[in-house]
Amino acid sequence: MSSLNPTLVADGVWRLSANAGQDILFEGLWPLPHGVSMNSFLVKGRECALIDGVCGWDGVPQTLLAQLERMGVRLQDIRYVVLNHLEPDHTGWLEPFARLHPDFTLCASARGLGMADAFYGLAQERRAVGTGDHLDLGGGKVLEFHEIPNVHWPETIATWEPGTGTLFSCDAFGSFGAIGEAAYDDQLSEPELALFEEESLRYFSNILGAFSSSVERALRALKALRPRIVAPAHGPVWRRDPGRIQSWYERYCAYGRGPAEPEITVIWGSMYGMTERAVRSVLEGIAAEGVRAHVFRVPQSHVSPILAAAWRSTGIAIGAPVYEYRLFPPVAAVLDELARKKVVRKKVLAFGSFGWLAGGGGKELAEIVERYRLGWELLPPVEFPGAPREEAQARLREAGRGLAREVRAASADSGSTRAQPRQVSPS
Ligand SMILES: Cc1cc2nc3c(=O)[nH]c(=O)nc-3n(C[C@H](O)[C@H](O)[C@H](O)COP(=O)(O)O)c2cc1C
Ligand SMILES: [Fe+2]
Ligand SMILES: [Fe+2]
Repeated sequence: MSSLNPTLVADGVWRLSANAGQDILFEGLWPLPHGVSMNSFLVKGRECALIDGVCGWDGVPQTLLAQLERMGVRLQDIRYVVLNHLEPDHTGWLEPFARLHPDFTLCASARGLGMADAFYGLAQERRAVGTGDHLDLGGGKVLEFHEIPNVHWPETIATWEPGTGTLFSCDAFGSFGAIGEAAYDDQLSEPELALFEEESLRYFSNILGAFSSSVERALRALKALRPRIVAPAHGPVWRRDPGRIQSWYERYCAYGRGPAEPEITVIWGSMYGMTERAVRSVLEGIAAEGVRAHVFRVPQSHVSPILAAAWRSTGIAIGAPVYEYRLFPPVAAVLDELARKKVVRKKVLAFGSFGWLAGGGGKELAEIVERYRLGWELLPPVEFPGAPREEAQARLREAGRGLAREVRAASADSGSTRAQPRQVSPS
C-alpha cells in the first residue's frame, strides 16, 4: 500500500488516498495490473467529517493519519466519520483509527451501522442517515445523504455537499487503476483517461455488474443533483468533466440490458489443438464481416478481463472440446462466472471438437443458460469429430460470419450512439 499527499478537491474539501498494488487481489479475486486507489475525503466546516476510508491492508491507519498530519488536521478535530458503504476496502482502517481517536460520531445508513457493529464492534456514538437527512458541519458546510442500495452492498449511501456540488459516490463511478500525484481528471492526459475508461469498465463488470439495474437507478437519482465534482472512492476525481464518468457508467448499464457494442468476445480452450484450429476459422468469419473480436484462451486468461470484454460485447463465441460428456471444464467455469455477474442477453455461438459423441457441450451450455436465466440466444452449434477438416472449417467460417452479422444488426437496431470502442487486450 502506498500513501499519497492529500490534495484540495474544492473549497473545504480534501482528498486523501491510498493505493494498493499489483501484489493484491481485489476482493481476494480480481487482479490489479494497474493497482487501485481507495479515496477518503475530508470536509471541513466548523467541524470536520471524514467520508469513507481505506482498507485494512498493511500500513493502516498510518496511511490516513500521515495525510491528516500533513494537512494540519488533528484527530480530535474529526467529529464525524461518514461510512457510505461498509465493505472493508473503505472501512478496514476504522478499528485502529478508533483506538487512537475514540471520540467521533459514526454516520451511516441504519443497515450500515448494524454492519459496523458486526465487522468492528465499535462503541462510538452513531447516527443513522438516509435520503432526506443532512448533517450541518457549520461554516456553511452541510452534508446530505442519498440511499443508493446495492451499489454495491444493500446499505450503501452517497454523500452530497451542495456548497461545492461535490458528490461522494463511493463505489459508484469507481475505477480500478492506481492514482499517482495526478488525482483529478483535469490533470490526466488522454491516454491516462483511456486507461481509466478501460479500468472503469473492468471495475464495473467485475464488482458492480451483478447489480447493474440498481446502479442504473442510482445513476438517475444522482444525476438529478447535477454534481459539479464526482468524487468516487476508487479512481480519479472528476471535476473538469463530471459528465464523462457518468456517461461511461450509463453506457455500462445500457450494455447490461443489451445489445451492447457490435463486438464479439471469443472464449476458448483446447487440449490438443483441435478446437484451437477451429477458433482460427471462426475468427476469419468474424473478421470477414468487419466485426471486432476480443479473444481469450482459458484457463490461461483470468476471468476479470473476460468479464469486461463480454460485458461490452453483443456476441459471445465459445470454443470448447467435449470433456467427459460435458464442456471443457475451464470454459464451463468461465461461463459460470459470467452468469453470476449477469452477463445477459447475448448472441452466442458454441463450437468445438469431440472424440466419439457430439452434444455434451451444448447440453451443458443450455443448462447454464437456463439455470441463470441468461436470455442468451444460442445459434446452431458447430461440432466436428477430431480435427476440423475443410468441410468443418467452412461451416465454422460461415458460423463466425453469421454471428457477426447478427451482432451487427442487433447493435444497429438498438439505435444508441456509443463512444468509439477502445482496445480491450486479448489474453
Ligand atoms: C479427459 C478427456 C475427456 C474426454 N471426454 C470426451 C467425451 O466425453 N466425449 C467425446 O466425444 N470426446 C471426449 N474426449 C475427446 C476430446 O473431445 C477430443 O480429443 C477432442 O478432439 C479434443 O479437442 P481439443 O484438441 O481442442 O482439446 C475427451 C478427451 C479427454 C482428454
Ligand atoms: Fe464495495
Ligand atoms: Fe469499494
